[in-house]
This record gives sequence, C-alpha cells and structure tokens, in this order.
Amino acid sequence: MALDLIERPRRNRKSPWIRDMSRETWLGAAHFIYPLFVHEGAGSVPIPSMPGCQRHDFDSLLREVEAARGDGVGAVVLFPKVPDALKSNDGREAYNPNGLVPRVIAAIKAHWPDMTVVTDVALDPYSTEGHDGIVSADGRVLNDETVEVLVQQALCQAAAGADIISPSDMMDGRVGAIRAGLDAAGHTDVSVLAYTAKYASAWYGPFRDALDSAPKFGDKKTYQMDPANRREALREVRLDEAEGADMIMVKPAGPYLDIIREVRDATDLPVAAYQVSGEYAALKAASMNGWLNEREVVLESLLGIRRAGADVILTYYARQAARWLAGGE
Ligand code: PBG
Repeated sequence: MALDLIERPRRNRKSPWIRDMSRETWLGAAHFIYPLFVHEGAGSVPIPSMPGCQRHDFDSLLREVEAARGDGVGAVVLFPKVPDALKSNDGREAYNPNGLVPRVIAAIKAHWPDMTVVTDVALDPYSTEGHDGIVSADGRVLNDETVEVLVQQALCQAAAGADIISPSDMMDGRVGAIRAGLDAAGHTDVSVLAYTAKYASAWYGPFRDALDSAPKFGDKKTYQMDPANRREALREVRLDEAEGADMIMVKPAGPYLDIIREVRDATDLPVAAYQVSGEYAALKAASMNGWLNEREVVLESLLGIRRAGADVILTYYARQAARWLAGGE
C-alpha cells in the first residue's frame, strides 16, 4: 500500500545521473593550495607526525612543485625552517632578500611562471622566541613594531615574485599596512590572503614540530582567536575587508565549519579555509591503522569544507586528493 506522499526526496537520488545533476557542491583540484615545508641544506627530512609530508631541501621542493603541477595543483604556499643562527627576536631574516623563501619563490617562478606562489607572513619561523611577533622585555608580543617588520617581509616576498601574500600573524592592522606598503612599492597586482579568523588551536601541533617553531614561552592566545568565539570572527572579517584583503581565511577548517559558513555569508570576497597539520595527522593516523578509508574520508572532509562555504582549501592532501578526483590512486 503506497504512502500518500507528495514529496519523496529519494526521487532525486535514484540514479547516478540524477544525483550528479542535483549535486550542490563540487570539489576539484582548482580549489587547492598545497602547503610545503622547505629548509636550507641538502637532504629532505620526513615529518614524523605528518606521514607523507617532508621538510624539503631546495631541489626536492622544486621536484615536489613539478609533481603537484602534474597532479593538477596550481598553487603552493611556502613555510621555511630557518636555522637557529639566523633567528632573532626582531625576525630580521624574514626580509633578507637572499633568504631561503625569496630564493625559492624566484626559482619556482623561473621554472613555472604560471604557478601561483603564496607566501606566509609572520615572524615565528624567524623568531628566537617562537612567536609571530616581536617580544618585549616583559614578555608581551608587540603589535605595531611587529607590523613594520611584516611589511618588510611582504615587500621582500613580493619583490621575489610572490603572487599572494598571506599574513598568518594576527597582529591588528597588518592587512592595511601590507596593502599600503605593496602599493607604494608598485606591487598593486600582488594579492593579500588574510588569515582573518585564525584560532589559537591545538591542531597546529604537527606544523610546529615540522618547523621547530613552537613558542618558547606562553601561548599565542594574546593574538590568535579564542576557539569559543564566533562574533569576533565577523569583526575580523569587517576589518580585513576594510583594510583591503582580497581573500579571507578561516583556520583550522574541519573543527570550524560553522565559522566558515558565517564568514561566507558575511563577505563577498573569496573565502579560504586551512585544513591544518593536526587535521591531516588525525586523518592519516586513523587511515594508517585501517580504521578509516582514507580516500573516502579525506574527500568527504574536503567536500564538507567546501559545503560550509570555502572557495579555496589549503590542504596537505592537495596532491593526493587531486589524483583521487582524477580517478587515480
Ligand atoms: C604560523 C603558522 C602556523 C600555521 C601556519 N602558519 C602555526 C601557528 O600559528 O602556530 C599552522 C599550519 C598548520 O598547522 O598546518 N604563523
């Protein structure tokens, strides 16, 4: 006896063809930015808490960029591990024009001019204190003094050929200062992808292992956001928009899908989300144990981030996911 139902949602799920035509969200390699770690010297080093990821040496990094392109990934973001001897409280190595990052940018652009190179702006890899800004004698992370250095760092990266400058430091006013600095130097075409809602998250643990960049004292709670806060993310969006950001980022991604949605609804700018090192480590560990089906669970996680409202996803799974989406292994 048929139920008397006017609506039967299952009709729109009855065949692959109909499911395809009624699908609301799609995932493709064009959405991905691939984060890469690089260090000085010869030989690449595996990162224990991120199986499958390496701290690349210069040549290996270029090979990885080439392989990523082969997989259909057209954008990378660079994170350097800097030798202790080059670290200082004021992070001045961050704007050395002969430093590792500018050399890597120039090499990538020389080989593949159409590769989109995104660079991180923050002092933590360069800081003796492991903080994203300059630390005062009494242990405070100084805002305005730091912003001056961040502008120098951004100018150095732009001069080397970076396409998108991505401040991850969470200092107040840095987006506007970087935009003004870039424009004054003639870099009007260089974009700013702001880490707008970056939370003080335990999910960054493996990244700090990879770069040996954990704070030497305290935590990052005086500049990164409180995980309890939602409205504050919208305040940060308003400020970064007014300061000239081209794209807005939410970080982490998976545990903050509600924030991605709020931000998506609050701005006309493209929204990026960062599936961070700890999210990668968790997915990888469960998969390596055979507890989760890696392919299915990773693609579902990335699709969820897209469905929440992200246009762009920074993910360590970029290459792998691109291959899976193309029907490969
Ligand atoms: C530092 C920075 C961090 C990440 C990106 N840029 C770590 C932090 O804020 O301590 C984290 C990325 C990840 O965990 O994958 N400015």
